[in-house]
Amino acid sequence: MPPEYTPEFEARVQAWVEARLKPKRIPHVRGVVETADWMAQLYAPTERMRVRLAAWIHDAAKHLPDDELKRLAELHQLLISEGEKAVPMLLHGAVGYLLAAQEFGLDDPQIQSACAFHTTGDPTMTATDMIVYVADLIEPTRDFPGVEELRTEARRSLEGVTLMATDFTLRYLIDRGKYIDPRPVFLHNRLIQAGVRS
Ligand SMILES: [Fe+2]
Ligand SMILES: [Fe+2]
Repeated sequence: MPPEYTPEFEARVQAWVEARLKPKRIPHVRGVVETADWMAQLYAPTERMRVRLAAWIHDAAKHLPDDELKRLAELHQLLISEGEKAVPMLLHGAVGYLLAAQEFGLDDPQIQSACAFHTTGDPTMTATDMIVYVADLIEPTRDFPGVEELRTEARRSLEGVTLMATDFTLRYLIDRGKYIDPRPVFLHNRLIQAGVRS
C-alpha cells in the first residue's frame, strides 16, 4: 500500500533525506521545500503535499558517485537519456526518487517526474514539475546575478519563470562551454510555441 501523505509521513521523509545529505546541502533542500510550498499555494494548491515531498526528495541521491548513479539507474531499468549518458550526475533526481520509493513504498508518477526533471527540465513538464524545477534555482540560499528577477517572475507566472529559468541555465552552459542536454532546448521551444514570454 502506498503511504498516506500526512505531516507525520513528511517528517519521516525529511529525516531520511537529511541523514543522506552532506550538512552543507541541508539549507538548500529546506529552502527548496519552503519555496516550492509557496509556489504550490499559487499554482497547484491541491498538490501542495506532493510538491513538498518531491522537494524533500529531489537531491536525495546528490552525493552518490557517477558509477553508482549509473548502476542504480540500470538496475531499475530507467530510460537513460543521451544527456545522462554523457553527464551521469543528471541522473541524481531520478535515482533519488527510486531510493525514496524503495524506502517508503512510494508509487507516485508526479513525485517521480518532479524529481527526475528538476535539473534539466523536460518538454512534458506539469505544473508540479515546474514548481520543483524553479524552486531548486531560486530558493533563499541561492545568490547569483539575476536571481531576484527570477523570484519576481515566480510570483507572476509559472510558465514565464520556467522559461526564464531554462534560458538562464542554457546561457550559463553556453557561456562556460558545457555539454547541453537536449531537454531544456525542447522545453524552451515548447514554451515559446505556447506564446510564453519572460
Ligand atoms: Fe539537484
Ligand atoms: Fe537541489
